[in-house]
Amino acid sequence: MPTLIIDGKKVAVPEGSTILDAARAAGVEIPTLCHHDGLEPWGGCRLCVVDLWQPGWDEDWFKLVTSCNHPAKDGVRVFTKSARVVETRGVVLDLLLARCPDAPLIQQLAADHGIEETSYAPREEPDDCILCALCTRVCDHLDITAISTVNRGAGKEIAPPFHEAPPDCIGCLACAEVCPTNCIPYETSNVRRSIWGKEFEMLRDPATGQAVITKAQAEFFAGRGGVPGEYFETSDTTKRREMAKKFVSLQILE
Ligand code: SF4
Ligand code: SF4
Ligand code: FES
Repeated sequence: MPTLIIDGKKVAVPEGSTILDAARAAGVEIPTLCHHDGLEPWGGCRLCVVDLWQPGWDEDWFKLVTSCNHPAKDGVRVFTKSARVVETRGVVLDLLLARCPDAPLIQQLAADHGIEETSYAPREEPDDCILCALCTRVCDHLDITAISTVNRGAGKEIAPPFHEAPPDCIGCLACAEVCPTNCIPYETSNVRRSIWGKEFEMLRDPATGQAVITKAQAEFFAGRGGVPGEYFETSDTTKRREMAKKFVSLQILE
């Protein structure tokens, strides 16, 4: 079990942990933007940088690493608030504020780092997308890949192929749910859902009329996971009610 020292706190973590895992275990907060515990670390936003020293290095030699994807090794010392860590995070947030001046999350993080206004020229047509790729990665993780990054430089954005309704999208909303700036628009009701320009029919629980998931999503899971299609026609509420009825009939609950 690697043992590290993070901001003076000693912490032991399981093999395979990252510096971010170790910091969390030590109760040390590190800001992140492109990290999600359910996805492989990506190391894209650079907000989670820390200063790191490891055994064998000169005492005054440190390296800036991204904590979300750097392995936690035995004997390592980590500094999450050194002057250059604070400065680096400030540059990242200053740039993000120029790109997304209206995004509340970025405004808040920047303000937490003492930045009220960007020192760069704000983007002429700002949007709230920070290009963290969480949406494309979660879609890839589902083995769907309906959206991706397109274009380069200042024109880089997230979009479906040819900016048309993506044929492979199943309307699961996973991309919108993981988006840290809530900038993926969608509409959903008990009857229909739309996202990325594609319309979906909702499956509804016959007992409650409550929408469960999209028909396309149920077909995807039934096809890929072998889960019977009927499973998705029952809402969680109805499943809980049925379970409670069973418990009552067993006289477990009064
Ligand atoms: S809603 Fe569509 S694009 Fe978004 S994660 Fe689901 S399948 Fe992918
Ligand atoms: S749309 Fe949201 S999740 Fe996707 S890259 Fe932009 S900010 Fe990240
Ligand atoms: S959270 Fe580590 S690089 Fe984005």
